[in-house]
Formats: sequence, C-alpha cells, structure tokens
Amino acid sequence: MTYKFDKGIIDKYIKKLDLTELYSDESDLKKYKISIYEFLISENYEPSIILGNGAYGVVCKAYDKKNNRYVAIKKIVWDDDISVKRTLFEVKFLNILNHTNIIKLYSASIHESIELYIITELMDYDLHKLIYSSEKITNKNLKYMIYQLLDGIKYLHGYGIMHRDIKPKNILINQNYLLKICDFGLAKKYHGSAHGLPVSDNSEKMTDYVVTRWYRDPTIILNKGIYTELADIWSVGCVIAEMVLKRPLFDGDDEKDQIEKITKVLGPPPEPRSLPEAGPRPWRSRVEKAKHWSVKSVFSNINIDPKLCDLLDNLICYEDVRFTADEALNHPYFMEDKSLIFRIWDKLGPALWGRR
Ligand SMILES: Nc1ncnc2c1ncn2[C@@H]1O[C@H](COP(=O)(O)OP(=O)(O)O)[C@@H](O)[C@H]1O
Ligand SMILES: [Mg+2]
Repeated sequence: MTYKFDKGIIDKYIKKLDLTELYSDESDLKKYKISIYEFLISENYEPSIILGNGAYGVVCKAYDKKNNRYVAIKKIVWDDDISVKRTLFEVKFLNILNHTNIIKLYSASIHESIELYIITELMDYDLHKLIYSSEKITNKNLKYMIYQLLDGIKYLHGYGIMHRDIKPKNILINQNYLLKICDFGLAKKYHGSAHGLPVSDNSEKMTDYVVTRWYRDPTIILNKGIYTELADIWSVGCVIAEMVLKRPLFDGDDEKDQIEKITKVLGPPPEPRSLPEAGPRPWRSRVEKAKHWSVKSVFSNINIDPKLCDLLDNLICYEDVRFTADEALNHPYFMEDKSLIFRIWDKLGPALWGRR
C-alpha cells in the first residue's frame, strides 16, 4: 500500500527542524532508471550505478556536473509518518554535524512530495565489503580505522547524539582507509538542545526498535529499553571484533539466541539497573567469581595485538564497566602509534580534519 502523503506532517517537521530549503525547484528534474530503481533528480546529476541499499533507502553514485565532483544520492520513499520524521531528522543531523569521520551532506531535497533525496560526498565502499573482500587489512590500517571510528563516535556523543545503528554497512571507507560514519536514520539526540538540534519527541520512546541485532547492546534487551550512548560503544566493539575475526562476533538468530551467545562469552549479566543496590546480588557475585569470563577468550587462538585485545575487553563488556569513546581513544593501544596516525592525517591535509 502506498503511503497517503500528508503535507501537514511533512510541513510540521520541516518547520520544526528548520529545513525549509528542502523544497526544491522542480523545473529541471529528470527521471533516471538505474537497475530497478527510479531516481527523480536534477539534470545536473549523471547517475551511474547503485552503491547499496538498506532498510530505508537506495543509494546511487552520480556525477555532479555543476560542481565537478562525484556524489552519492540516497533516495528515500516515505511509507508512513514515522519514516517522514526519522528521515527528516537524518537530514537535520547531517546538516549540523561537521567532522572528518562523519559523512558530509552536500544537499537534500523533496520531490513529488513523497520522495526525499540526500546528496552526500562519495566514498569507495562500506566496511562490510572491505571485511569480506580478499584484501588483507594490515595492523596499521586496522588501528587507523578503529581510531577514526572512535573519534567520530566521540564527536557524536559530545553533541549528545546516539547513532543507534553502528554496523559495518553503515561505516564507509575509501582507498586510503579514511573512514566515515553514515546512515543517521535511527540517530537520536538524547540530551540538551544546543546547536539548533531539537531533542526527539517523547512520542518516540527509547524502547523503539534499535540497532541491528548482531550489534545490539545486551543492555537494550535485558534492561527493557533503558540504555545509554554506551550502546554505540558495544556496537563499535562488535564491528572491530568482526574486522579481526572476519565473521560477526555474536550472530544470534533471534533476541534469545543473541543473549545466549553473549552470556556464553561474558558470563551472566549484572542485575538490571532499576533494582536497588542493597540485598543479595546473585548475578554479580557469580560474575566476580568467574573472572575468566571475557571477550578475550574469543581471540585466544588468533594472532591479535594484545593491546587491541585488551581494548576490546573494555568495549565488549557489560555496560557498568564499559569504556566511553574518549577512554577508548586514550587506551595504550593507540599510544605508541599516535604520532603515526597524526602524520597520516597531516598528509591527508587539514581540510579533512573537520571541526573537533
Ligand atoms: N556516501 C556513500 N558513498 C558510498 N556508498 C554509500 C554512501 N552512502 C551509502 N552508501 C552505500 O549504500 C548503503 C545504504 O546506505 P544507508 O545510508 O546505510 O541507507 P539505509 O538507511 O537504507 O541503510 C550503505 O550500506 C553503503 O553500502
Ligand atoms: Mg544503512
């Protein structure tokens, strides 16, 4: 069934998010068919191939003749009011964020009123493709990518924004291993309202469906939807582990199987946070007794930098002892190579630094 377009809802969010420039001049639009997908875009763009698609959009590569550059165009077809709201928030987030490791928005527009187009800088591939390609990732490049991923997350959390869908397909890479986080379709502002970003309505509770299961913080499942931005850190840990293992770390078939796979490695979880601190703590004492429970056991037969293994132990753990992005960036794993990382960045040029 096609979504019955309600201009009132769209106008409400456009006004609220201060995105009035989204309504574009429709006079120079042209219809292109790429694979099975139709794109209604300005004649200034020459679309070529489909780069990927996900739950909400389909993305094509195009040449922007006016600005002489290649771009990625994400087309989103709205199918309900929630998708209107989510995707307009996605544009708002991209519009405001400005960091080397976050995909850069060039423009966005609404045509025929039920389609939204988001035009961003073009990257070479996503991390999923890199992980499952035959390309060997050197330790140096691995460290460089992990550093950038954490730096992007630190920036987001500094703004009070949770990404809520960190996974290899939402992380983009170029040939030089420059990394950018994309797909802010599930992102949420969780405190403050600085920089013109409104906190999402209360109508969308934190209990919403979030984070693809394999990368989902067990706190989200066990704590009945009460979780923090550290859920992104769990996902980052799972992504890094997947880069090392070349397979997903916890690939549960459903939520129950997911939790079983996690507890087999990490031991029983601490009691939910809502319980009072006093009284017997059966889970906790069992965890304390079983100190051998750690994600490190997964890597025991693998050639991995022991410092990276220690960092992962602090990312893939229950929330009460999990690192923040800042703590992770200060881990000894990065220390000796920090100068090296900065030398690479210097070479890439200060333009890539973004606002920090
Ligand atoms: N700027 C880009 N450069 C290159 N590929 C991209 C770009 N943006 C998206 N892609 C590809 O398209 C896929 C879907 O884009 P994404 O923004 O994640 O949409 P969805 O919300 O549908 O998941 C990504 O997984 C990636 O493979
Ligand atoms: Mg995606």
